[in-house]
Amino acid sequence: MEYEEVKKGLAGVIVDNTAIASTDSNGTLIYRGYAAEELAEKSTFEEVAYLVVYGHLPNKKELLKFSNLLNRNSRVPQNINKIMKLLPRNTPAIDVLRSMVSLMPLNGDENDGKLLEIAAKIPRIISDWHRLSKGSAPLRGTAETYAERFYYLLTGNKSKSDARLLEELLILYMEHEFNASTFTLRVAASTLTDPQAAMTAALAAIKGPLHGGANAEILDYLLPMKSTPEARKYVDGKLRKKEKIMGFGHRIYKNKDPRAQYLKERLRGLAAAKGAEKLYNIAVAIEDEMWKMKNIPANMDFYAAICMYLMKIDSSLNTPIFAASRSFGWTAHYLEQVSNNKLIRPSSRYIGMLGMHL
Ligand code: SDX
Repeated sequence: MEYEEVKKGLAGVIVDNTAIASTDSNGTLIYRGYAAEELAEKSTFEEVAYLVVYGHLPNKKELLKFSNLLNRNSRVPQNINKIMKLLPRNTPAIDVLRSMVSLMPLNGDENDGKLLEIAAKIPRIISDWHRLSKGSAPLRGTAETYAERFYYLLTGNKSKSDARLLEELLILYMEHEFNASTFTLRVAASTLTDPQAAMTAALAAIKGPLHGGANAEILDYLLPMKSTPEARKYVDGKLRKKEKIMGFGHRIYKNKDPRAQYLKERLRGLAAAKGAEKLYNIAVAIEDEMWKMKNIPANMDFYAAICMYLMKIDSSLNTPIFAASRSFGWTAHYLEQVSNNKLIRPSSRYIGMLGMHL
């Protein structure tokens, strides 16, 4: 009997069409036809979120309506705050986010309305939990744009330049075609479950250290390093033990992750401004050694983690921040899946025992 080859991890398998984003091994990333790096450099978070969800850049009226929707829905209902107060303070922020999203009372009746209502609330769920877990009261007050609001909620600061860098980073995190958490959401959506349940499934998947959970571990190994020779020695040691280094490697990008290169360039200026050139040089030494020893490129998480560290964002929030931005990509994928749905149910090859009898 002719068997098809098993493609473990669905590596290289095209399972559906999508019009939302495209990536390729040479390091191209486009959202709805626009280069992600150009969007990061020239657009606002709201403009890109609208583009990813609705397929075209918003005109002035659409942008105002969308920005007001995100602002109007950014608060967290009192009963959700009451539930958060009951949780142990050492609960991981991504677990709190997943749980509160799954319980969130929603007003919207259309799918996009429900998903955007959740996406709008994620920054404040992250901030309110972070403050609660430290015994502080939630931050009050707000700001003009999504990114300025988010940066203030994360740090209590109002630096426009740091908020702009966070905005570029969030734009680059927003969408990445059929990555693990997005595909998880599409599998759930294909059963026609509700959008809130599908987004909860995606939040469960993004926590994994092979996916969104990597970035929190990057600083653990990077910050104690004192010199570039020490950095190179660390890489050589890990590779010799065949251990993986967080922030490197990618299923699609085999030469470069365009998001990592964009943030590396922005980090150079940020490090100079914050007197952190040594940290920047150590990071580049690790990247160069990984490429020299294994031809494995840095992925977005590597330079994103260092940028957020220098912006004084608590690294325990890195994965929830990634999820906050990706929630707009997930919104687009839920709508695309249900618009032309077929239940996602692949086949498997049975290699277990046969002919057993009790
Ligand atoms: C994200 O899919 C997406 O688009 C994800 C993402 C998005 O925007 O949604 O881009 C976000 O998840 C980025 C990835 C964050 N994860 C990490 O940084 C964790 C470390 N990275 C690896 O676990 C790994 O690179 C993956 C999981 C990201 C990709 O792995 P693959 O494609 O399954 O490849 P593999 O694990 O089979 O590795 C191939 C080879 C192996 O060596 P050999 O056994 O062939 O000798 O490369 C080696 C691996 O050991 N390798 C690494 C490595 N990553 C791969 N060696 C050391 N350190 C690493 N980080």
